[in-house]
Amino acid sequence: MGYAEQFSALALKSEPLILGIESSCDETCAAVVRGRKLLSNAVLSSAAEQAKYGGVVPEIASRAHTDAIGRAVESALSEAGVAAGQIDAVAVTYGAGLVGALLVGLSFAKAFAYSLRIPLIAVNHIRGHMAAAYLTEPDLAPPFITLLASGGHTAVLYTKSATEFEIMGSTRDDAAGEAFDKAARVLGLPYPGGPSVEKLAREGSPNIPFPKMFRGNGYDFSYSGLKTALINYCHNKEQRGEAYSRADVAASFQCAACDVLADRAVAAAKEKGCSVIAAGGGVAANGYLREKLAASCAKAGLRAILPEKKYCTDNAAMIAAEGVTQYFARNFSDLSVNACAHIPLGKKGKQ
Ligand code: KG4
Ligand code: ZN
Repeated sequence: MGYAEQFSALALKSEPLILGIESSCDETCAAVVRGRKLLSNAVLSSAAEQAKYGGVVPEIASRAHTDAIGRAVESALSEAGVAAGQIDAVAVTYGAGLVGALLVGLSFAKAFAYSLRIPLIAVNHIRGHMAAAYLTEPDLAPPFITLLASGGHTAVLYTKSATEFEIMGSTRDDAAGEAFDKAARVLGLPYPGGPSVEKLAREGSPNIPFPKMFRGNGYDFSYSGLKTALINYCHNKEQRGEAYSRADVAASFQCAACDVLADRAVAAAKEKGCSVIAAGGGVAANGYLREKLAASCAKAGLRAILPEKKYCTDNAAMIAAEGVTQYFARNFSDLSVNACAHIPLGKKGKQ
């Protein structure tokens, strides 16, 4: 009998205690939820060490996770006031992400689940980002529109139920976060790029007419034109020896990158007749995007759900929240589940 199979007749609890574990990039995270109520959220980051190299070095990330995972889980359990033996299931990110980094969290989760003979739930990182909305609003009920903007994905989704969604549009090239990271590099800003661009943008004004994204193609996104425009603008100025304001470049880029996210999400909500838009992913931590989405929603008579910034960037609370959905769907995993570097978001349309 496979490991998951032994839980096929498990009596489900109405408010299970779930331990979430996340180690897909440079943050070692553990969290505990009781049903949809968050009890604790621990994040141990190696970002400061990675910043010396201008980005995430996979080997350093794996070693940092190995060092931190035990402490992260212990602190999540103690902050929640829960003993390991009380946990009903372990939800862990199995992908997408850096394989060596993922394996640290995944192996820890397997050992934890196996030693307590409780279900293991392998969670898709992106589904975790989408579930962050439930942390902010435990009573949130689909259908609603999800605006997902992270370092690897950018999409507008119609969330039909907690387990079914339809991709209405996604990026044709770079993800929004990736574009922020590239813009930061061109502007000589430190890693991580998104927050650095946001900080500099506060000192500038969005007066450079970077190209608006193509229109008339449904809900898809494309960031390569904006990236090229930014690079060309800076290089042309430098070649001509003309002074320019890096802060204005940052502010103009930020507007161009974020306005389209809010516009597409609002249009999608109107098409589907949804009254709620929930944001998720690292870029949803951007203050300008949050204000823009809130204002656009207010104007259109919609409600914006903006998870707290710490639940937009990588965290285990969202993995535990998605774990709750999978627990009720009895979507348990075998101990043979492996780490996956890439998990496609899916094809456009119903999933
Ligand atoms: O969701 P996330 O933490 O990890 C992925 O799953 O990719 O997203 C990371 C991305 C990075 O590209 C980072 O630069 C961007 O989110 N990001 C931001 C902000 N904070 C993080 N982008 C813009 N403004 C921010 N404040
Ligand atoms: Zn993420």
